[in-house]
Amino acid sequence: MADSATGPVDLVILGGGSGGYAAALRAAELGLSVVLIEKDKLGGTCLHRGCIPTKALLHSAEIVDNINESESFGIRSTFDGIDMAKVNSYKDSVVAGLFKGLTGLIRSRGIEVVEGTGRLVSPTAVAVGDRVVEGRHVLLATGSYAKTLPGLDIDHERVITSDDALVLDRVPASVVVLGAGAIGCEFASVWRSYGAEVTIVEALGHLVPLEDESSSKLLERAFRKRGITQHLGARFAGVKTADHGVTVSLESGTTIDAELLLVAVGRGPVSAGLGYEEVGIATDRGYVLVDGDLRTNVPTVSALGDLRPGLQLAHVGFAEGIYVAERLAGLRPAPLDYDNVPRVTYSHPEVASVGLTAAAARERHGEIRTLTYNLAGNGKSQILRTAGAVTLVALPDGPVIGVHMVGDRVGELIAEAQLITNWEALAVDVAQLIHPHPTLSEALGEAHLALAGKPLHVHG
Ligand code: NAI
Repeated sequence: MADSATGPVDLVILGGGSGGYAAALRAAELGLSVVLIEKDKLGGTCLHRGCIPTKALLHSAEIVDNINESESFGIRSTFDGIDMAKVNSYKDSVVAGLFKGLTGLIRSRGIEVVEGTGRLVSPTAVAVGDRVVEGRHVLLATGSYAKTLPGLDIDHERVITSDDALVLDRVPASVVVLGAGAIGCEFASVWRSYGAEVTIVEALGHLVPLEDESSSKLLERAFRKRGITQHLGARFAGVKTADHGVTVSLESGTTIDAELLLVAVGRGPVSAGLGYEEVGIATDRGYVLVDGDLRTNVPTVSALGDLRPGLQLAHVGFAEGIYVAERLAGLRPAPLDYDNVPRVTYSHPEVASVGLTAAAARERHGEIRTLTYNLAGNGKSQILRTAGAVTLVALPDGPVIGVHMVGDRVGELIAEAQLITNWEALAVDVAQLIHPHPTLSEALGEAHLALAGKPLHVHG
């Protein structure tokens, strides 16, 4: 049954994850009528199977680390074990609270939510069951799923994805983590803190290989110190599963026995069987192709978030949702600057970055300057006993175009770094700012002092 009696709404959104719901909220705020179609739960991967629950696990892991390291701060404490059921109920309660808030927010803006699996049936209509929702515009925001490798079957018991890892009811004794992107490194970090034997297998030469090489190397050193085994530049050959666990083999001939294999080799677009190609939407390996305005080749259809090629980050989804809503409401939003999106891997220690890596900057600009400030010179880092560094990438006599940090809590510093790169600040401008002492943020200030030729707490 089509909604022909009421006529088309302004915007039909397929998928209520970070990008889809942000578009819905902004569009409704701007006076557009919105229908949001969701087959599972509003909030999508980030809220239910990604950012939020993993950070809750990481917070529990940090508490374990604090207990285990407390002796070095003069505090006697004994680690008595992990009650995974309680860890999971803490994690679930955080998700539930945010979900309730989000549901209320969507309701309060007058957005109609339709539950069910939607399917694009024309450039202006989405079918959900026997209902057809017509819209002047359609936004595809169906997100991504955890991919695997050809021939590597996920059995959800011994060979698992991050979705399974998030609902595990026990701490595994040992794990092989395949893929050292953000997901692989965050779970490796959590499980190591919980006491598991962790082995990472990464095809490229470094952990977090898309980050600046300086950050990757610092994370590798920190993970080595934490007892996380790393096989870098290693090709996965296969896995044999048995009741007691898995045997993972690498092309080098190495075999690794473990209780679990976590497959964290990237996320693919959720687009198959949703009618996109039948309606003529151009795709590439399932990713929906868009222009700089997030328009597909079909003028009434836009797409955003993990579904289009590019960065798969919740905060990018939020920004893209706002952008599309404003464009459809007739505003002229400023183009999104994908070069200056902050990225954080919330492992112990954290890796945070914004702007270009040294390698990317060299490729784009030729000559560049880099400067590394070691956290050994930063008072607060020494109080926290965290190792790490801030690396700046700048144009010679020009602005800072990349900031790369490793250390506990550096994720919270990336917002300042983001202002620096987005506003194309010169090192001398930032060096001029007085940073509070003793904070981690001082490390950013000191790095810029050094880049401006005025190093303070730096050995010559
Ligand atoms: P990813 O693409 O970032 O990393 C996958 C890793 O697997 C790569 O380093 C790749 O070289 C490796 N790999 C691929 N095939 C392999 C093979 N055959 N053998 C060994 N290694 C292999 O994907 P990931 O970590 O699964 O995350 C998916 C997306 O979600 C990413 O875009 C990520 O940025 C995002 N995400 C972001 C988080 C954050 O911002 N904190 C947290 C979790 C995910």
